[in-house]
Amino acid sequence: MLRWYAKHGRDLPWRRTRDPYAILVSELMLQQTTVATVVPRYQEWLRRFPDFPTLAAASERQVLHAWQGLGYYSRARHVHAAARQICRDHAGRCPETLEKLRALPGVGHYTAQAVLAFAFDRPVGIVETNIARLLARLSNMTQPIDAAPGRRLMWAQASQLVPLRGAAIFNSALMDLGATVCLPRTPKCGICPVRKFCRATNPADLPVKRPRPKKTRLSEHHALTIKRDQILLQQCRQRWRGMWMLPPLSSARTRAPLHTRKFPFTHHEVTLRVFAARAPSVRSGEQRWFHLRRLESIPIPSPHRRAIEALVDSSELSVGR
Ligand code: ADE
Repeated sequence: MLRWYAKHGRDLPWRRTRDPYAILVSELMLQQTTVATVVPRYQEWLRRFPDFPTLAAASERQVLHAWQGLGYYSRARHVHAAARQICRDHAGRCPETLEKLRALPGVGHYTAQAVLAFAFDRPVGIVETNIARLLARLSNMTQPIDAAPGRRLMWAQASQLVPLRGAAIFNSALMDLGATVCLPRTPKCGICPVRKFCRATNPADLPVKRPRPKKTRLSEHHALTIKRDQILLQQCRQRWRGMWMLPPLSSARTRAPLHTRKFPFTHHEVTLRVFAARAPSVRSGEQRWFHLRRLESIPIPSPHRRAIEALVDSSELSVGR
């Protein structure tokens, strides 16, 4: 596997560093986002916030803005809070034990182990989606990988396999083998370097997962209100806390929406409908007018930004990052 990795492993930017800050940022970004999306955003982030002290000194608004488009913004808040905690409690140096890492905001078992393996080369196993699929197939595990007993078995296997030296490379190799050869529906067993150790009888049917609850549908209605070169936005309280969205409407308008788009959000499939609305005579405290040309520098959730970009003459916006 290591020979295969030396030749076919992916050259990913967070593999060219041992800096625990950079590794932590990459792992948080990769939690619910694909490698292809993360690569440019990770590089941009490191230019903007190169280390824990710089990130700790940034405002929440700057941090949310830099995270824009990656979604699941609690990850951005967590890495920000973790940087502040590391500067306050650990003199700006990343802790090096599982316990202390797990005490950081947003850092669970996986992330703590990943930092130990990739930044400090500690001989610890890690299990993310790709490794879980690979290990489930190698051991022909028919228990669901997303229930506690199956998960325990996977972590036990991962920690048994990891060598005393070279854990960073070993875990990267497991990940890449899972991501590029041991593919979900169509595993490329013909080119697999560990094929002779694999016990899978029907690899395409593994891993087994628990049945998923169906996504519930949500319908959300929002107002597009433009006055000259300004747009009315409202600060979000819940899902996108702290960001600015089109103001919500309590009910759909009878006229057709200007814009309709579906987007997924955790356990929901949300249909966003945007209606034209007049400027309210009284503006609520959470609402503010923003110059269209300034929207680029304001944190706006992606579905709302896409609606604005689709609806407002592009010559009035400064679009793009
Ligand atoms: N997914 C989670 N962590 C990763 C990593 N370090 N490299 C590639 N994909 C990942």
